[in-house]
Amino acid sequence: QGNGLALTPPMGWNTWNKFGCNVSETLIKQAADSMVSNGMRDAGYEYIVIDDCWQVGRDKDGNILPDPVRFPSGMKALGDYIHSKGLKFGIYSDGGSLTCGKRPGSLGHEYQDARKYAEWGVDYLKYDWCSTYDQNAKATYENISDALRATGRPIVLSICEWGLHKPWEWGKNVGNLWRTTDDIYDHWQGIRTFEHGVMDILDLQVGLEIYAGPGHWNDPDMLEVGNGKMSFEEYKSHFSLWAILAAPLMAGNDLANMSEETKFILTNKEVIAIDQDALGIQGKRVFKNGDLEVWARPLKGGGRAVVLLNRSLKTQAITVDWEMLNLPEQLSMKVRDLWQKKNLAKAKGSFTADVVSHGVVMLRLDL
Ligand code: GLA
Repeated sequence: QGNGLALTPPMGWNTWNKFGCNVSETLIKQAADSMVSNGMRDAGYEYIVIDDCWQVGRDKDGNILPDPVRFPSGMKALGDYIHSKGLKFGIYSDGGSLTCGKRPGSLGHEYQDARKYAEWGVDYLKYDWCSTYDQNAKATYENISDALRATGRPIVLSICEWGLHKPWEWGKNVGNLWRTTDDIYDHWQGIRTFEHGVMDILDLQVGLEIYAGPGHWNDPDMLEVGNGKMSFEEYKSHFSLWAILAAPLMAGNDLANMSEETKFILTNKEVIAIDQDALGIQGKRVFKNGDLEVWARPLKGGGRAVVLLNRSLKTQAITVDWEMLNLPEQLSMKVRDLWQKKNLAKAKGSFTADVVSHGVVMLRLDL
C-alpha cells in the first residue's frame, strides 16, 4: 500500500472473537486500560478495534450514526480516550449495503464515512464483504482505499474479503492486510467445514507466503488465544505459527479478565519479535511428514525462526535439518528456545526436540 503504514504486521485487539455484537464504550475503554496495565502495549500491541454492531443507522444527511445507548459519549471522545493511552483507534464497516451483522454498510457512502472516521481520529479500518452481491471485489476495496487517502489521515486498511477473490493477488496496492480465509473459530481443527480451526486456517496459508511483505500482509484472521476452548499448548502453537506467518497479531480475548497463562503467551516478546522482524518475510512450511511439520522464516541478521509442530495425539521427536533452512550443513548455529526462554547447546547440521501433542517447540537460530 502506498500509505506507508503497517511496515510490520499490525498488532492490537478486536472485539469480535470474544464479544461479537456486545460492544460499548465501556468495553472499549476497559480494553484500552487493560492493554496498558497488563503490559500488552509495551509488548507492541497498538490498535483497539471496534468490530461490527457499533452503528445503528444514518441521519437525514446520510451520516453514519453510532449506537447512542452503547456509545453515549460519541466516537470522537472514544478516539481521544484511546489516543490518550498511547494507543490507536480502529473501526469496522463493510463494502456492501449491510454489514455482516445487518448494520448499515458503506456502499454509496464511502467518502462520507471515510471523512467521518478521520474526524473521529480513526487510525485503522476493517472493511468487510457482506451484502456485496455482484460487486467487483478489487473495485470495492479500491474505492474505500481512495476515500481513506482523500481524508489526508493515515488509516490502515484491513481488507476483510475472506480470500474469495484472491485478494493476495491485488491487495498489495489497495490495503495493508487481507483476510485469506473464512472466520476462525476457537478450536484446533475441523469441527464443521465452515468453522475453521487453527490447523484448517494454517493449511490454507501454504503458498501464500510470496505475497506478503512490509505494508501488505496475509491475514489468517484474529487470535483466539485465551478464549477458553483450546489448551495452553494449543494456544502457544496458534500464537507461534501466526508469528512465523508474519500475521497481524490481533488479540481477541477478554483483556480485563485474562489468566496468567494467556498473558504469558500474548506478551512473549521474543515470539512477537519474530512476527515483527524487519525483513518482513513470511515463513513457510519447509517439512511435512504426516502430523509432523517444520515451519521457518528468515530473520534480519541471517538467523532463522523455526517452529516444530506436532499435530498428532502423542509426544514425538521432530528434526529440523539445516537443508530445510537453506543453510550449509557444516554451519554451527546458536539455538534459543523461545517458550522456555533459554539458550540451548549450539547445533550443527540439524536440531531435534521432543514435541508434545498439539504443541510446538519454537526456536530462534542465530549465527
Ligand atoms: C465477518 C468477519 C468477522 C466479523 C464479522 C462481523 O464474519 O469475517 O471477522 O467482522 O463479520 O459481523
